[in-house]
Amino acid sequence: MQHEVRLRRRRAGRSETLAIHLTAGKTLMDAALDAGLPIASACGRDQLCARCGLQILEGREYVSAESPKEAEVKLRNRIAPALRLACLARITGPVEVTASYW
Ligand code: FES
Repeated sequence: MQHEVRLRRRRAGRSETLAIHLTAGKTLMDAALDAGLPIASACGRDQLCARCGLQILEGREYVSAESPKEAEVKLRNRIAPALRLACLARITGPVEVTASYW
């Protein structure tokens, strides 16, 4: 089943939303890369660096629950608890996300 993922970014001081469709179970990183947006990573998606943290604006209930591994990586790298790691968080329904550098 496909779900809409909206990715909000700023362009010339204005908010803009890109929309793509992804199969359930794909990660938020898959969504960003499919949309052609940069995604920070220092570990090459090895679930170590926590640079890939994204803010979920809508549809938090449609993102996989945070695993103990994700919580541990976030804590170790001291990133905001509310961010979700794009390489670990999987979509289960429609969501909207953003990154501070988009
Ligand atoms: S890319 Fe490094 S933890 Fe997600």
